[in-house]
Amino acid sequence: MEGQDIVSSTEGAPRDVIPAHLLRGQKALVTGANSGIGRATAVALGRAGADVVVNYVAGGDEAEKVVEEITGFGVRAAAYEADVSDEQQVVAMMDRMVQEFGTIDILVANAGLQRDAPFTEMTLAQWQKVLDVNLTGQFLCAREATKEFLRRGVVPEVSRAAGKIICMSSVHQIIPWAGHVNYASSKGGVQMMMETLAQELAPKKIRVNAIAPGAIRTPINRSAWDTPEALEDLLRLIPYDRVGDPEDIGYAAVGLASDLMDYVVGATLYVDGGMTLFPGFATGG
Ligand code: BGC
Repeated sequence: MEGQDIVSSTEGAPRDVIPAHLLRGQKALVTGANSGIGRATAVALGRAGADVVVNYVAGGDEAEKVVEEITGFGVRAAAYEADVSDEQQVVAMMDRMVQEFGTIDILVANAGLQRDAPFTEMTLAQWQKVLDVNLTGQFLCAREATKEFLRRGVVPEVSRAAGKIICMSSVHQIIPWAGHVNYASSKGGVQMMMETLAQELAPKKIRVNAIAPGAIRTPINRSAWDTPEALEDLLRLIPYDRVGDPEDIGYAAVGLASDLMDYVVGATLYVDGGMTLFPGFATGG
């Protein structure tokens, strides 16, 4: 598959320092988990001891490979097909998860896509598709997960929270992005949705937070890093001087989902090598 041949620069990084008991007994759903950031996040959660549902909309074979990798850690995993922008499919996915896994403790609302175009050439279909998947998809998944969190409440042996929602946002929730007005608007929406949900649900002991990745080496932005020229341009925007790996996001998700971060509510964790630090001002201004 497309993402398979992507060389990871965190190869040999300390994966095995993820404590295998950190999320033991917790049930996680990761949307869009058959590739890229979703895949690495699902694997990291499994490594940390969670049982994981690997959601996908296309690419079932890849999803099955992710399931296989996760079950290798001695936890449960299953691949569920569902389009996150379709209300019925999301409801059915959550029902199935509760039936087969018993409940849900962690939602990583990750599924997302880009349909780029200069503004005057952007079709309504391109605008709508991105909003439907990136924003409405997170709304639907968060709503259905929250219903189950509220039904079940806190189980102290499992976690201090009744549930954890991690919204996958982007540095483009705050960095405007010419030629990507649909994508940037969807992520700006994710930020406000996340903060509003965090405020509304905190009294119910549900923690809602976001991760805002910068440039992570995945199929979504291949053209930004797969030639030396593109890579050089990209690295100019990243003070830490490397493109991120999907695992960088997976590790962040494990931390945010765990009780180590029980007091983190309504936060956006930027995992971007400093992309949001206005690197142009290091020498200008
Ligand atoms: C986008 C990537 C982009 C990165 C940094 C992400 O949200 O999906 O295409 O490389 O932001 O600009």
